[in-house]
Amino acid sequence: MRPAGLSVRVPGDKSITQRALILGAMADGGSRIGGALRGADPVATGRALARLGVEIDGLGAGEEQVVRIAGRGLRSWTSPTGTLDLCNSGTGVRLLAGALAAQPLTAVLTGDESLSRRPMDRITGPLRQMGASVQYLERPGVVPFRITGGRLDGIRHEGRVASAQVKSAILFAAVGAGVGVEVLEPRRSRDHSERMLEGMGVEVMEGAAAEGWTIRVPEPPPRLSPLQMHVPGDFSSAAFLLAWAALAGCGDLLAVEAVGVNPTRTGLLPALDRMGAGVRIQGRRTTGGEAVGDLVVTGDSGALRAVAVGEDEIPGMIDEVPILAVLAARAEGTSRITGAGELRVKESDRIAALATNLRRIGVRAEELGDGLEIEGTDAPLAGVVESFHDHRIAMAFGVLGATAGCDIQIDDPGTASVSFPGFWDLLARVRTWWEAMSHGTRRPPQPAREPGVSAAGSAGCTVVAIDGSAGSGKSTTAAAVAGQLGYRHLDSGALYRAVTLGLLDRDPSIAAGAVTPADLEALDVAIEWDGRAMAVRMRGSRVPEKALRAARVNSVVSTVSALAAVREHLLELQRATAEGPGLVAEGRDMGTVVFPDAVAKIYLDAHPRERARRRLLQRGEPPDAAKIEEEAHRLKSRDERDSSRSLAPLVRAGDAVLLDTTHMDPKAQTEAVVRLVRGLEGSLFQYGDEPEPEKVRGVRPEPGAGGS
Ligand code: S3P
Repeated sequence: MRPAGLSVRVPGDKSITQRALILGAMADGGSRIGGALRGADPVATGRALARLGVEIDGLGAGEEQVVRIAGRGLRSWTSPTGTLDLCNSGTGVRLLAGALAAQPLTAVLTGDESLSRRPMDRITGPLRQMGASVQYLERPGVVPFRITGGRLDGIRHEGRVASAQVKSAILFAAVGAGVGVEVLEPRRSRDHSERMLEGMGVEVMEGAAAEGWTIRVPEPPPRLSPLQMHVPGDFSSAAFLLAWAALAGCGDLLAVEAVGVNPTRTGLLPALDRMGAGVRIQGRRTTGGEAVGDLVVTGDSGALRAVAVGEDEIPGMIDEVPILAVLAARAEGTSRITGAGELRVKESDRIAALATNLRRIGVRAEELGDGLEIEGTDAPLAGVVESFHDHRIAMAFGVLGATAGCDIQIDDPGTASVSFPGFWDLLARVRTWWEAMSHGTRRPPQPAREPGVSAAGSAGCTVVAIDGSAGSGKSTTAAAVAGQLGYRHLDSGALYRAVTLGLLDRDPSIAAGAVTPADLEALDVAIEWDGRAMAVRMRGSRVPEKALRAARVNSVVSTVSALAAVREHLLELQRATAEGPGLVAEGRDMGTVVFPDAVAKIYLDAHPRERARRRLLQRGEPPDAAKIEEEAHRLKSRDERDSSRSLAPLVRAGDAVLLDTTHMDPKAQTEAVVRLVRGLEGSLFQYGDEPEPEKVRGVRPEPGAGGS
């Protein structure tokens, strides 16, 4: 029987969201944009538009699904107060500059360190030619610059690079000013602007030219109709999950739903196909003038072949080269990517960033002037990589790090939120799901139940066993999971601490080994339930939490809890807690010894450095680099000791699901475990609660908008 599959969704398309915000702000009337990306890039654009007097809401994190823009016409923006900061967004600054060229006002555009290195002449050149005035304020050719717009002339622009940003900036300027324009690009770039403008009532003519592709807007209308659309999932974001599925070998079990499959964006697919990881597009439909489908990687061998891609293919996969390079690192043979010189001026110099990082983790990679040569390997890959303030570099290496045989740390994972908020959480979820699924299909024989074990399940109590290393997030997660599921929470560590405290009170120099069952009986350790939370009683009275956490307890608890008599003594007490609807049992041998029949077993782990950081924060110490190293070292030695001791060693049960929490906050960890438990209970584990896209009018008449 095939195990159950998983369907996931990715956030809305960045390119489409950016265009919808700017064009919505130029339209006559209210636009409604469903499914918009709420990543850092569009949020920066939205903020800039608000400073230009545009009423725009619904872009904040956690806001309702629809963004509303109150458009007041083509040239209705007002002089901004202060500088417009587009942060990391190249699309934002270039497209907005185009639109500003037609507004009778002056604005200063700027951005972050990465944006300050990206070339702006490619847009300021044609905009000046049309009549806008531009002054660079610090260094020539880069932000910050001041732009004063107004009346413009139409132009015919022959671009040297295939760039949708350049093309869109010119089209937005021409439409804003009401003048005809023609753009000739050496190769066809993404056509979201053209589609959206057509849907708003602009006549756009395009087609193959002698030397590339030409786009013409002969006569823009005096007003744009507002947008009523739903943004499809971003293909560039989906690509990371497809790549992960190809590397993990989970074949056609993982679907990424409702992704934009505009043919000017899906150039990665033929390359993947040549590598041996075909992608099936199913359920094709059209939303907002854009083709949409559900993507599934076919085949489950996990074996990839090297690939060669050249300049003709690059524009259609311009943002996917980082993930392609990572796949090449795991393919058989040497892959060659050429004609990709544009990558040097993205959010980072992606050619250099990829080569540097690949080498850092042990892959042979050679930097070419306009691309890369990468020798695939199946050796373990490990090391720390740098994101270079580039979301796609961070995510590409994150995908590789989430596969077997890799231990990769990313210096700045947070940068993913530029285009893919929730990326790390989703990646951890699919990974956890796949672990569960592969265990589900190859479940090892269950340990025989010892006589007298209160069987989880047979007493009607669902037991969730959460084990893991120190600092992996066990306690917080277990407590929160218990709260969400309405189960009791067994904190086994508190029992070991209570025993330690009791023994210390009796004899402050506890002689290990000299503890007898009678000594332990005398402590009279018991559990008292306060609703679902547990408190420990000893010799008839409640032990305060503070006493359990006292320094003198900390220093010997691991010695005491390694004593056979102690473990034996507490075993029945712990097992007896499996009563009522459910129990979340947290500790170090829950899934192996105490509840070998638990319905769900989860083993939490995280990179020692991250665990060290959490420990330091818990103790109120600043997590600086030296301290982190020191603490990580301590944790590693403790792991080694704990996992090699003969009695109740810290090991992951053969049928436990490993959850790597390195990149997860407590909320994400809790959600992942809850979903996992629910998934195991129901055997189908689904992620993606987003409501179905609302029925909206396409900006382009349907059908016919699909392939071009
Ligand atoms: C984009 C176009 C591409 C792409 C970028 C988004 C757009 O850049 O790399 O992420 O939305 O127009 P170029 O137009 O510079 O190639």
